[in-house]
Amino acid sequence: MIKGFIFDLDGVITDTAELHFQAWKNLADQVGWNFDREVNEKLRGVSRMDSINIIRAHNNAEVDQEELIELANKKNAIYVESLNQITPDDYLEGAEGLLKNLRVEGFLVALGSASKNSTKVLQQLQANKYFDVIGDGNSVSKSKPAPDIFLYGAEKLGLKPEQCIVYEDAESGVDAAKAGGFYAVGIGPKERVGHADVRFDTMKEATLFEIKSKFNDLF
Ligand code: BG6
Ligand code: MG
Repeated sequence: MIKGFIFDLDGVITDTAELHFQAWKNLADQVGWNFDREVNEKLRGVSRMDSINIIRAHNNAEVDQEELIELANKKNAIYVESLNQITPDDYLEGAEGLLKNLRVEGFLVALGSASKNSTKVLQQLQANKYFDVIGDGNSVSKSKPAPDIFLYGAEKLGLKPEQCIVYEDAESGVDAAKAGGFYAVGIGPKERVGHADVRFDTMKEATLFEIKSKFNDLF
């Protein structure tokens, strides 16, 4: 029986994925590194330090840990500044409607994001009211594809993984949900999230009505 929902943030609730891209691109240009949308795709759902390591490796650059942290901090400052432009109009289409319906129907809802900036993003969207539990990059140490962030959310909601549906736009996020024994809804193309239990191209299609019909015997 499904009693709760756990949502990834970036690329599911709002399109911060684009702002992450812009901030990494800005940093890469300053450092003289190559960085494009293809490399950016590998960063979806991946923690900040893992992300900079992927970009560094892509450029065959040797950078010591201290400098790498400095560069990641620099990117984060650019990213955090760009979050100021987010308003309550910036939910991905369908996301706020779904969160509202979950409230109306009494489901428990948690955030399960790898981001350490989720507080700021939720504040900009005025989305805190839709969540019973906030799990983010500050809540656990092992990031996706480890299931820890979703297990944290489920535990705080007082639910078992098999009572929760996880929404994810990242390959590593769907891996994490499956590793934890959750039902996974993938948002995005088949090549990225085709291994989820159910997949939709965008949040617009991933309504509660659709979820109930796809996971029919679980409601
Ligand atoms: C994830 C994003 O939600 O959060 C990643 O998909 C990002 O792209 C990660 O790197 C960490 O975010 P932050 O805000 O802590 O740098
Ligand atoms: Mg995401």
